[in-house]
Amino acid sequence: MFPHVTALVFILLAFLVARDNALLNGLLPDLDDLLPTLDLSLLQPAAADEAPISPSQDPFYATPTNISSYREGEIVRDRLLPNEIKSGPTTTYTAGRVYQYMYRSRDSTDNPAANVATLIVPPGPANNRTLLSFASAYDSPNPDCVPSYAIRPGSPAPFGALSVDAMQLSVALDRGWYVVTSDYMGINGAFPAGRQMGFAILDSVRGALSSRARSTTGLAADARWAQYGYSIGSFGSGLAAEMARSYAPPLSRGALVGSALGGTVPNGTSLFLQNAGGAGGGLLFSAFLGLSKAYANFSALFAAEAGPARRPTFVYVGDNDVEVNNRRGVGRDVFDYLQSGRAVLFSETFRTVTSGASQQGVHGAPDTPLYVFKGARDEISARADTELLVDTYCGANASASVLYEVNTVAGHADEQLLGAPAAYDWIAGQFASGGGGAGTAGCARREVSLFSMSAAEILSFYGLAAAVDMADRLGIPFALARRGWVRISKAKLKLSTSLRDHRLAWTG
Ligand SMILES: *[C@@H]1O[C@H](CO)[C@@H](O)[C@H](O)[C@H]1NC(C)=O
Ligand SMILES: *[C@@H]1O[C@H](CO)[C@@H](O)[C@H](O)[C@H]1NC(C)=O
Ligand SMILES: *[C@@H]1O[C@H](CO)[C@@H](O)[C@H](O)[C@H]1NC(C)=O
Ligand SMILES: *[C@@H]1O[C@H](CO)[C@@H](O)[C@H](O)[C@H]1NC(C)=O
Ligand SMILES: *[C@@H]1O[C@H](CO)[C@@H](O)[C@H](O)[C@H]1NC(C)=O
Repeated sequence: MFPHVTALVFILLAFLVARDNALLNGLLPDLDDLLPTLDLSLLQPAAADEAPISPSQDPFYATPTNISSYREGEIVRDRLLPNEIKSGPTTTYTAGRVYQYMYRSRDSTDNPAANVATLIVPPGPANNRTLLSFASAYDSPNPDCVPSYAIRPGSPAPFGALSVDAMQLSVALDRGWYVVTSDYMGINGAFPAGRQMGFAILDSVRGALSSRARSTTGLAADARWAQYGYSIGSFGSGLAAEMARSYAPPLSRGALVGSALGGTVPNGTSLFLQNAGGAGGGLLFSAFLGLSKAYANFSALFAAEAGPARRPTFVYVGDNDVEVNNRRGVGRDVFDYLQSGRAVLFSETFRTVTSGASQQGVHGAPDTPLYVFKGARDEISARADTELLVDTYCGANASASVLYEVNTVAGHADEQLLGAPAAYDWIAGQFASGGGGAGTAGCARREVSLFSMSAAEILSFYGLAAAVDMADRLGIPFALARRGWVRISKAKLKLSTSLRDHRLAWTG
């Protein structure tokens, strides 16, 4: 989710001061020698499109008055969009088809809710029995920042901070997977909506597998699906995994081959405590606006606490796209803007909403495989909360399968980039094996150490140009850090050849 930008602005500034840009540029020819066969064909110049209509102006997003007449997952209306989607901050990707649909789902208080999802057909050879749900980390209560709009070239909102999510989504298409990405926090932007996220993802998959969607996209009726989600995306995907068995049994075991959850943010209360006044300060302003849309009692609490005088500050800081929210909220303490200050934490309403709706691990015991990956230095959500979540998942069901990997040297935003390649490989294994891939028996945890965009697995995943671009935008070390990484490794690390050829794993 969260303040990729702000957290990274700090790192970036430090890095830029310390680094001579020319030095990095000077290193690039060497990397070319190392990697002679990179395929840069994915990256194309952004089309100078006419801007698409924003959701708040687009009748496609209007909830029909008879939404409750539809079955959950049933498609209300649909359309084909141009095949161009974003694939990064300045690049686009040509998909096979881009199919968008409104479908019925539920909100966090179990009322019917219309939602929108985008089902994307790969451009080349596709495997129509593989469907990936990609939950974008869009962190916004603004209805004009939803993924179904943000993915379209010409829309102002990024598709996840810096459109990193778009980069990763296009890699999934390149692997021949169909991809569905839903506006899982709701049409009104109920960030971070709680149970609605799980319902919305599960119903988006029901919609994708319906005959109406299949007749346009060629997806097979018996397709299996997997999930990828980072940060708030991991929360939504985690809830979908938790609730699949109770809410959508046909989409559970046997259909859902696995869920890759990265940069996990499982504890809403902790998020408030950890981010107020810090790098992720902005997301809490967004959360007050978004949770007020999801829960009437939270809305009343917010109105009483912020009052008409303070509300505009919340809108200014938090009602924008994720990048702007992060920039405007960095260092701000949301409790300074509330009547009771930090004592809000003890209000019954705040407590019930954050410890129930905004808590992962309490909505059901997943019986489908999980791959959890996390930067040990995650500044948005402490590693300890994830350790508890993994323990909960492992203890909840004897048939649970959790592979938990900690990247000992990564923070929140860098692990989003560095962890995805291994997560995708795990997903590919799950698709290939029908849900019983390597490392999916019981619970396992391992530590890895990767902190450079120039590792071979990273470069082949993103392509050299995109990897260099991201290293530069986010301040993630490129070739320079690679040397440091090798140096750290000498003492106790050894090369792991089992799961990540280019990662280093602790032996003991
Ligand atoms: C909902 O209303 C529209 C417009 O009247 C109608 O075309 C549609 O069939 C209705 N849907 C259901 C499921 O009743
Ligand atoms: C799915 O792909 C297979 C193999 O390419 C093809 O035979 C089949 O017709 C496709 N299914 C649909 C629904 O298009
Ligand atoms: C969530 O975090 C809060 C504050 O740190 C803590 O009191 C609570 O026990 C945590 N909940 C769970 C389920 O771990
Ligand atoms: C606030 O509303 C939510 C959702 O309806 C509910 O779960 C929670 O218990 C409520 N809190 C209080 C204190 O009533
Ligand atoms: C564990 O998962 C199995 C397989 O889906 C299921 O039958 C069982 O009810 C689950 N047990 C619990 C305690 O959730």
